[in-house]
Amino acid sequence: MNKILITGGAGFIGSHVVEFFFNKFKNSKIIVVDKLTYSGKKIFLRHILKSKRIKFIKSDIVNIKNYENDLKNLDCAINVAAESHVDNSFKSSIIFTKTNVLGSHIFFQNCLNNNVKKIVHISTDEVYGEILKGSSSENQMFDPSNPYSGTKAAAEMIIGSYLRYIDKKKILIIRSNNIYGTRQYPEKLIPVTITKLLKNQKIPVHGSGSYKRSYLSVKDFSEALYLLIKKNYWGVFNVGTNKSYKNLDVIKEICGILNKDPNKFIKFIKDRPFNDKRYFLNLNKISKTGWKAKRNFFKDLPEIVDWYKKNNKIF
Ligand SMILES: NC(=O)c1ccc[n+]([C@@H]2O[C@H](COP(=O)([O-])OP(=O)(O)OC[C@H]3O[C@@H](n4cnc5c(N)ncnc54)[C@H](O)[C@@H]3O)[C@@H](O)[C@H]2O)c1
Repeated sequence: MNKILITGGAGFIGSHVVEFFFNKFKNSKIIVVDKLTYSGKKIFLRHILKSKRIKFIKSDIVNIKNYENDLKNLDCAINVAAESHVDNSFKSSIIFTKTNVLGSHIFFQNCLNNNVKKIVHISTDEVYGEILKGSSSENQMFDPSNPYSGTKAAAEMIIGSYLRYIDKKKILIIRSNNIYGTRQYPEKLIPVTITKLLKNQKIPVHGSGSYKRSYLSVKDFSEALYLLIKKNYWGVFNVGTNKSYKNLDVIKEICGILNKDPNKFIKFIKDRPFNDKRYFLNLNKISKTGWKAKRNFFKDLPEIVDWYKKNNKIF
């Protein structure tokens, strides 16, 4: 790999992916395109930004003129940029369509126009909607249940359609379950719980807190992405873990790490208009590549809590 472009590379997942690829592809040039919305911070890339191998472009992915030239002679382009928070999508959904659908389409089409060798789109298990029993395999129909997952599904409907008439091997789509790690904006369950507890504030919990989610380490996610790209896999892959946790169990675990009594800090709030009870990915296809998640969610939590203690001021 000589030249890779990553959108959303200043966000939670994107910054870890940029760092991971920077260390793995030792001679590659990496171009980051990021709008720097509330969740994207250049400081996440501070250890590598000075390198001549990194180029940072502050731009909306919709504004193709700002980075069109950088799509030339690319070995790989990865679209990680997105509006990513479900709650925000209930309040102002149009920006979700602009970035997640129009932005992804503009990005994808221009990658094709410039003959990018591999185009990777990061999607989510939420496109499947809730699944109360069994598991979602890659050929399951989409059934999104909120504006965020609706826009992610819409982008995939467009990008997936190209699989029928261009060289399929150019396209890789990854649907992941919840991802955990440092640098996540305090709006999602884990960083909200940690940052509220650090300020001795109550933790808002949707509904009864019994919804179940699976969690994959952002390091395991980066490894999966690296392997799939390096070995030239194409098409759609579910990536994740199958162990699931109730939201309340995650909160109680973090309370334990910070020596707080959960009964004193949990505040039940009105549920979302609709909240998927359960997602469950079928991981047979990714398992056949030899990839498997290595990290343990609860064992990793103390390190993440520690990071927020030290970096709380960033947000
Ligand atoms: N976090 C998860 O648990 C999870 C799970 C599955 C899939 N995903 C997917 O992974 C991707 C990244 O999620 P995240 O959690 O890192 O989100 P994030 O909100 O932390 O980061 C998003 C990044 O994209 C940038 N961005 C937003 N709009 C942009 C635009 N129009 N142009 C350029 N840059 C823009 C932001 O500045 C930010 O740096 C998303 O596509 C999301 O759907 C996330």
